[in-house]
Amino acid sequence: MDFTEYWSIVERNHTIQNPSSPEKLRLLADYCGMRDGLRVRDVGSGKGYLLRTWAREWRIEGTGLEINPWFVAAARAGAAEAGVADRVTFIEGPALSFAPEPGAYDVVLCIGASFALGGFDDAVPWMLSALQPDGVLALGEVFLNRCPLPPEVAAIAEPELAALPDLGGTVARFEGYGLELNGFIEASRDDWDRYESLHWPAAREWARANPDHPERDELLRQVRESRAAYFGWQREHLGWGIFVGRRA
Ligand SMILES: C[S@@+](CC[C@H](N)C(=O)[O-])C[C@H]1O[C@@H](n2cnc3c(N)ncnc32)[C@H](O)[C@@H]1O
Repeated sequence: MDFTEYWSIVERNHTIQNPSSPEKLRLLADYCGMRDGLRVRDVGSGKGYLLRTWAREWRIEGTGLEINPWFVAAARAGAAEAGVADRVTFIEGPALSFAPEPGAYDVVLCIGASFALGGFDDAVPWMLSALQPDGVLALGEVFLNRCPLPPEVAAIAEPELAALPDLGGTVARFEGYGLELNGFIEASRDDWDRYESLHWPAAREWARANPDHPERDELLRQVRESRAAYFGWQREHLGWGIFVGRRA
């Protein structure tokens, strides 16, 4: 099974596909200066929670880029159900195959999906190029709670996560692109626990409904492995937050 199918199964019950909450994403709207008439682009838009919710409250024009066909279908259905299908569009495919329209957007979001643009250092310039001069960029990103990791933790952590900067280092990286922060929203332990917990029954429900699926055992193994990593070190040492900024 490819990664899109895996995530469509384990995130079948997620509405927000990140360690966040409706209240925090409402605050994000405030930090982004959401109002009628704005053009918003969301990279890695998942099931479209943000664009749908914001389009219900404001007359925005939103576009989501999303690689996962299951999530795109859910996002389109959700927008139709919310009565905002005329305000938001979800485009299916790898984000990098859509060259950003230079300076066209008032708000560019990438919430937990910088890897879709090649990682932090490619994502920020890509997002900036799509942004009008006074526009707002919001990036949801993972960081280490303390740097460096203790050696016994570094020994079991995934190398790409072990190499992350801490919060101060992530802010400095953000500012290194000429951005000034005008908001930061951190994930709490409860946000993380809720985000992770939703994966476990989703996998079990799917396995029960698909007892003969050739990749049933492998999917359950992956979910167990990811839960072990969560409790083994990530819950203690990984942070996540949304960094909101404008050009300084
Ligand atoms: C952690 S989820 C976040 C979803 C959404 N932003 C949210 O907060 O609910 C990351 C999303 O990025 C999408 N994604 C991964 N690689 C991508 C790519 N190359 N192009 C577009 N989307 C991608 C995934 O399918 C997933 O929906």
